[in-house]
Amino acid sequence: MTESVIEIFDRVAERYDDVLPFFSEFGRLTARRLPEPQPGGRLLDIGTGRGAIAVPARDRGYEVTATDAAPGMVARLRQEQPGLDARLMDAARLEFPDESFDVVTAGLVMHLVDDAAAVTREVRRVLRPGGLFAFTTPGRVPEGFEFADGANALFGEFARHLPPQGSMGAPFDEVETLTEAGFVPRRQTDLRLELPVPDAETLWQWFQTHGTRKYFDDLPPERRDEFRRRLIDDLEGRRRPLLLRRYAWLHEARKSD
Ligand SMILES: C[S@@+](CC[C@H](N)C(=O)[O-])C[C@H]1O[C@@H](n2cnc3c(N)ncnc32)[C@H](O)[C@@H]1O
Repeated sequence: MTESVIEIFDRVAERYDDVLPFFSEFGRLTARRLPEPQPGGRLLDIGTGRGAIAVPARDRGYEVTATDAAPGMVARLRQEQPGLDARLMDAARLEFPDESFDVVTAGLVMHLVDDAAAVTREVRRVLRPGGLFAFTTPGRVPEGFEFADGANALFGEFARHLPPQGSMGAPFDEVETLTEAGFVPRRQTDLRLELPVPDAETLWQWFQTHGTRKYFDDLPPERRDEFRRRLIDDLEGRRRPLLLRRYAWLHEARKSD
């Protein structure tokens, strides 16, 4: 049996977001778009990882609670942010009373949970009426966006070598899921980032330290080697400096009264 999503994140927690500051950068972009907190404004960040959203949200003045289901992630967050309220918790079973928070955030996690609709309903339960749910997902490639490396095309090409149920993450209809759970969707914004990458090996290592690790673990070893070779060949043919250019969709919705 292949590892579960939580087991993978537990395993990579030690190096997560160390190779390139990808998640912390998207977290910062997300936190910057949150409304100005009211005094005592309470924010829950689910699937918090190392607190990519939780930390900048706290720095903006929110009273933050950060939760994650991977013990390694929570341990690392507690170690790095001793003052932050970090708790081990499944996003599908939030251990908070109804209407506990003004804002709930989820950075690049909703497409990874077993049942995005159930998590969305649980988020609605813990939000006050009118409260904001802001989350990011990979989603479709935005108009006019161009990758600066060939990895995305390789992920598509090699997917046929994965076993059934291999890799992780599943797209879902975010607007429909929000609406069905009792939210009023407000906006979908594509966030974009560009990070310099020192060399091809760094990009390869980056893929091993977050969710894509499972994609590679699930590929047959000879296909994994072939992917790595093709990625390195692709990068050798690219202009310097090498760039990691990526996007994420930010979904914002209010809990209907
Ligand atoms: C791609 S990481 C994103 C972490 C963080 N939000 C960030 O942007 O860096 C996904 C995180 O969601 C967590 N996660 C996955 N499924 C979860 C669930 N059902 N409940 C809580 N956390 C979950 C993982 O342990 C991991 O830390």
